[in-house]
Amino acid sequence: MGKPVSITAEVMLMDKWENYFADEGDIARIPQIEVCEFVTNLEKHFSERPLRIWDLCCGAGRHTVELARVGHEVYASDGSSKAIDLTRRWVQRAGLTATTSIADMTACPFKDISFHGVVSWDSLCHNTIDNIKKAVEEVRRHMAPNGLFMANVMSVSSMTGHHGAGREIEPYTFVHNDGHEAGIPHHFFDEDRLRNMLEAWEIVVMAEQVVSYKDTSKDTPRINPFSYSFWGFVVRRLA
Ligand SMILES: C[S@@+](CC[C@H](N)C(=O)[O-])C[C@H]1O[C@@H](n2cnc3c(N)ncnc32)[C@H](O)[C@@H]1O
Repeated sequence: MGKPVSITAEVMLMDKWENYFADEGDIARIPQIEVCEFVTNLEKHFSERPLRIWDLCCGAGRHTVELARVGHEVYASDGSSKAIDLTRRWVQRAGLTATTSIADMTACPFKDISFHGVVSWDSLCHNTIDNIKKAVEEVRRHMAPNGLFMANVMSVSSMTGHHGAGREIEPYTFVHNDGHEAGIPHHFFDEDRLRNMLEAWEIVVMAEQVVSYKDTSKDTPRINPFSYSFWGFVVRRLA
């Protein structure tokens, strides 16, 4: 097992994401149904309009655009300048508005905003456990009372397939050696460690989606439409 990721390594890590977004063919364009359903529930949870929603680690902006399209006040951040550029351009092309910022997941760049909802899809787990915990605490600090946070993180059930591959840099965190996510860390959770991370929140729902891989050939993830095993959760900030 190697050393935990350092500050310098974090800067280099964001270079990996810049490379990832350089190939626009890899970019996810269709919003996750889970994110859309979460926002429908958020609309029932709060009567105020528009809702202030933070898309944390927004990538190329598929959820930012969707949330703005349904009329919410959207804030989007990502550590990759390329991702933020893609998001800004997509929002503009769609004739919508959203506030965007390049920022590490551990520091909210939208200082005076308290959010009704925060979404973070396929992102939190790309870090070491200490940084993931910092990011989750940062979300809690910027959440309105009763606000809801929805995210997914990779499950240890994925470790039997491609997603346990690579170099273990700390317990449960692996950096891929090759493939289009080379150099990018993946942290895997089991239920106990996920509950432990969320202990400051009320857990509204926590569910594991388990996918069993039969074909684990190296290049599969690039074209694999069947997702990996993950834990999804919705948690509420206590008033
Ligand atoms: C797999 S993409 C998911 C993007 C988006 N949430 C979606 O569902 O399309 C992961 C995103 O996390 C961002 N990311 C990874 N590590 C980060 C960090 N430490 N701080 C901020 N963003 C980070 C990457 O730049 C990338 O946009």
